[in-house]
Amino acid sequence: MQTFKKNSLLKRYRLKSSLPKHVAIIMDGNGRWAKKRHLPRIAGHRAGAHSIRELVRLAGELGIEALTLYAFSTENWKRPPHEVRLLMQLLKQYLRNEVKELLENNVRLQTIGRRQDLPLEIQKELEKSIQATAHCTGLTLVLALSYSGRADLTNAVKKIAADVKKGKLNPASVTEKTITDALSTSHLPEVDFLIRTSGEMRISNFLLWELAYSEFFITKTLWPDFKTKDFILALKDFQGRQRRFGGVTNIIGSFTSWAR
Ligand code: IPE
Ligand code: IPE
Ligand code: MG
Repeated sequence: MQTFKKNSLLKRYRLKSSLPKHVAIIMDGNGRWAKKRHLPRIAGHRAGAHSIRELVRLAGELGIEALTLYAFSTENWKRPPHEVRLLMQLLKQYLRNEVKELLENNVRLQTIGRRQDLPLEIQKELEKSIQATAHCTGLTLVLALSYSGRADLTNAVKKIAADVKKGKLNPASVTEKTITDALSTSHLPEVDFLIRTSGEMRISNFLLWELAYSEFFITKTLWPDFKTKDFILALKDFQGRQRRFGGVTNIIGSFTSWAR
């Protein structure tokens, strides 16, 4: 059933089967969306939350393994308290309303980031939703909440240093994998595709280590306007890229390494 659905979607949208395994999205532009309409910023956040449902379902149906959404950065705590409060309220509503939909779509919810910074009631709501969807085997939806790429790397360094101190790890045997494994994303596939809406050309402290070889897609479309057709367009763009990872590409387009 799942494969049938996937194949019919690939056909409908004229996509090849080579989709990214892990898509990360910087959902930006809610404020500007609201401003254009002379609405308060929170109206933009509310509209942005609506965009999520459609894309989560589509990503799951297409068989994408993981979708990581940058929903709130550690720097976002600097925003006016009433905006932060309303964002937290929206998150609570999202969790309350969406669990049923996540379960129906076999989506497992997870988070990365400093969950301990969030209001207690949100922490509890998150825990409930994470537990309720833990058995799902389709898309893994990762919400980055109070997330900072630098903080995640700092944590990884702390864990590694503690292992060295305990004598469990020899500093000379620290490899890239040691670091990858100490990050909060260690259990997820490589992030092969990053989308940022609203046109800013920066990563704003998102997955610093993980984005080393991701393909980037930056669109001027504001997050509340980013819908199925925009996601499909982004995926088509991804499928047109030649991923070389520093190697060379041979004529049939497959990747060959210079040093095997
Ligand atoms: C992204 O939209 C949502 C969050 C960062 C929480 P913004 O609120 O950053 O929207 P702009 O960038 O001001 O338009
Ligand atoms: C990045 O957007 C964070 C999220 C989308 C949650 P920001 O709007 O906070 O980033 P800057 O301020 O443009 O770098
Ligand atoms: Mg912004």
